[in-house]
Parts: sequence; C-alpha cells; structure tokens
Amino acid sequence: MEGPNSRETLGRIRRFESSNITHFDEAEGWPVVWERARGCNVWDAEGRRYLDLTAAFGVAAAGHANPRVVAAGRRQMGRLLHGMGDVHPHGPKGRLLEALSQRTFGRWKPAMEGRAILACTGSDAVEAALKTAMLATGRRRVLAFEGAYHGTGYGALNATHREHFRKRFEAQLGGFAVFAGCGRLDRIDPAACIQSLDAHGPDVGAVLVEPIQARGGIRVPPMGFLRCLRDWCDRHGALLVLDEIYTGFGRTGHWFACEREGVMPDLVCVGKALSGGFPIAACVGRADLMEEAWPRSEGEAIHTSTFLGHPVGCAMALAQMQEIEDLGLVARAAAEGEWLRGRLEAMAGVRGRHVWRAVGVGLMAGIEVRTREGAPAGLVVVRAMQRLAREGILVLPEGADGEVLSLTPPLTIPRRRLSQACERIGRALEEAGA
Ligand SMILES: Cc1ncc(COP(=O)(O)O)c(C=O)c1O
Repeated sequence: MEGPNSRETLGRIRRFESSNITHFDEAEGWPVVWERARGCNVWDAEGRRYLDLTAAFGVAAAGHANPRVVAAGRRQMGRLLHGMGDVHPHGPKGRLLEALSQRTFGRWKPAMEGRAILACTGSDAVEAALKTAMLATGRRRVLAFEGAYHGTGYGALNATHREHFRKRFEAQLGGFAVFAGCGRLDRIDPAACIQSLDAHGPDVGAVLVEPIQARGGIRVPPMGFLRCLRDWCDRHGALLVLDEIYTGFGRTGHWFACEREGVMPDLVCVGKALSGGFPIAACVGRADLMEEAWPRSEGEAIHTSTFLGHPVGCAMALAQMQEIEDLGLVARAAAEGEWLRGRLEAMAGVRGRHVWRAVGVGLMAGIEVRTREGAPAGLVVVRAMQRLAREGILVLPEGADGEVLSLTPPLTIPRRRLSQACERIGRALEEAGA
C-alpha cells in the first residue's frame, strides 16, 4: 500500500498534534517528512534523498537502520515484545546490564563494575541519577552549568538551563538545581570556576554536567575542567554525574567523552546512540555506590516504569554496541573528526558581515556564526539549514540562539560525502548571511 504524501502527512500533523511540537515553515519547505532511512541517507515520501548530518540527534551512530541492529530488533520482536519492568526480567536485559557495566566502569578501572537503572528516555536516565544522588548523599542540591541541556521532564528540567524550556513551568519546578555561574562552558576558567563553587558547598549532593554541551551550542570545556570537578566532588562528598547522552558511544572519538581527560564519574547517563533508534537509556553507577544508595526491593520497586528494560530496546542496544565495536566507529569518529575539524577551520574567519568559528570534537562539530560585533546570528543558521534541506542536506541549529550549525552525522559517513556537504554548507551560510 502506498503511504500518504508529504502534504497529507503535514496536514494531519498540523491538525492533530499539539501545535508546539512541530515547526512549520511551508514557504521554505520545512519540515521534511521522513519516509525511510538507511546509513547516512533519509528519503522523504516523494522519494527525495537527503544526507543526514544530524544522525537524528546523534541516535543513528552506526547508521540509520543498521542491518545488524534491525535484525536484532526483529528477532526480539518475534520472541518477546514486552517485558515486565521491575517484575519478571528477560535475557536481553541481563545481557545489556552486563554490557553497560563492561563498557563503562569495567573499562575505566580494572575489576570495577557498574550497576544500572534502565530508562526510556535521556530525561528519565538523568532523573534516575538525581534520585541516586539524593539517596546516596541525603543532600537535595544539584549543581548544573550555564547552557546545560538534560531533558524536559520535570526532574531533569530543573537542571536544564535555557529559559525557553523552563520559564513557563518554573512555578512547578522543585528548585533544587543551582547553576554554577561560571559562564560559557567553552570559555570557563577551571580553577576560578572551582573556587566559586565552594559558595554552593555543603548542600550539594551532585554535580551534573555534559562533558561537551551539545544542545547548548557544541561547547567543549578546556581540558582539565572535568578533573577539577572530580576533585571538587571528592572534597565535598558530592557525586559527579556525567550526562553522556549525546556524547556517548563514540561520537567524540572516545567511547565516552570523559575519557578525553581520563576522569571517572560516579554516575553516567546514556541514551540516544545506545540503541540506534529504540527509546532506551540508562543511568549507570559505580556498583558500590548504587548498592549503598538503593534499598533492595522488598517486592515493590521505588523507581520503575511499565517499559523499563524493554526487550526490543535491550536487544538492539546490544547489537548497536557490538556494531560500533566491530566497525571501529570510535576510532573512525576520531580520525574523521580531526579531518572535519581541519576543514571547518579552513572555512572559519570573517565572512561578509559575519564571523564563523569552527567548534567541536570528533564527529560532534559545527560552525558558530556571529555578527562582527559578536551577536549570535541564529537567523543566518536557520536560513542556511532550510536552504540545505531543499538541496538534500539535513543539519540542525544548536545554541540558545541557534547560532551554531551543528554536524553530528552517523559515524559511518564516507569522507567524500562529508567533504561535498562542507562545500555546500559554506555556500548556504554565505548566501543566508548576505
Ligand atoms: C545531553 C543531553 N541530556 C539529556 C537529553 C534528553 O534526552 P531525551 O530527549 O531522550 O529525554 C538530551 C537530549 O537532547 C541531551 O542532549
């Protein structure tokens, strides 16, 4: 059976979805209706092909519809389509928990193990970490950073910085998060920042941070920052919680971005690329910490959900991690990322009325566009993004004003296609900024 065309779909979305969700700019051909995807390509309902330089928020790290991941999901669907959260477990859940332990704490320290709480979204995983910190330390305060994005659930939203997401709900937020006041993550002075944190001192149970901010505008803190945070947490008895939901599973040229500095967190949150497309996420903690924090279940878990540890998500996540390993995608992201960085640096500089700056690490990269006076030029990025979509290239704006044209392609992307795309991106930004 033929599916609906793009116009029909957009008509239905416009009519039946809450109007806050999908943004329409039909004169500019926005949005694109996705029909199918494979590798680094997406096709719309009319059969037009797009090069996806977003990997759909970084999810499709091993390529869209990676055959091994799809096969694992299909197999699992035919066997067991739904588990029972905290009640009756299943094989893939056990195997995924073991694999998460091995990929995180098992690699970070010999003979160390992790214990995880599985979740359905990144926001849920962050909330599981916040609950763990509350139980482990008995302290309510969470320290977060300017520009942070940890999700929009009512727990995680407390620590998400941007007003756009928070302000209409402020009255119902718990108010347990404080922002460090250290300014932009990529301009932070680690030593000065750490000193200023002392003012938040004794009531802080957790420091929650993205090792590289993605939605905040691909902001990479200076080396040494995470190490300073680790030391601060150790001195103050607080937990270091790393949100690796965007950066995890190879994106930055490391399995996890914290490995750039060799810093081990107490808790790490993962999601997005974990499964390659099924909504599954996790909060993984040091085994001793998790054991101490959470009471043994006496028959009713105090933290659970209907779809916790979904069997299809678990099976896909296992296949996805294996595929990232077998295809050498972590090393590939490092090598291609370095090449991309060079390419973006070559494009950077004063361009007409604007200044372009190359940002990012690995295959989490982008171009920040500002006016010569230094104001964020989000409109230029949005116009370029729409122009690129019409030409068959998908990118996203990041940053509070959308001033960063971000590139987080599948880690499998051929260099030739990335190179061609860079040329088109340069042209689109130039035309949009003229
Ligand atoms: C760093 C980070 N944390 C948390 C989240 C929230 O994840 P989710 O949208 O799956 O709830 C995101 C989503 O973009 C993210 O980038």
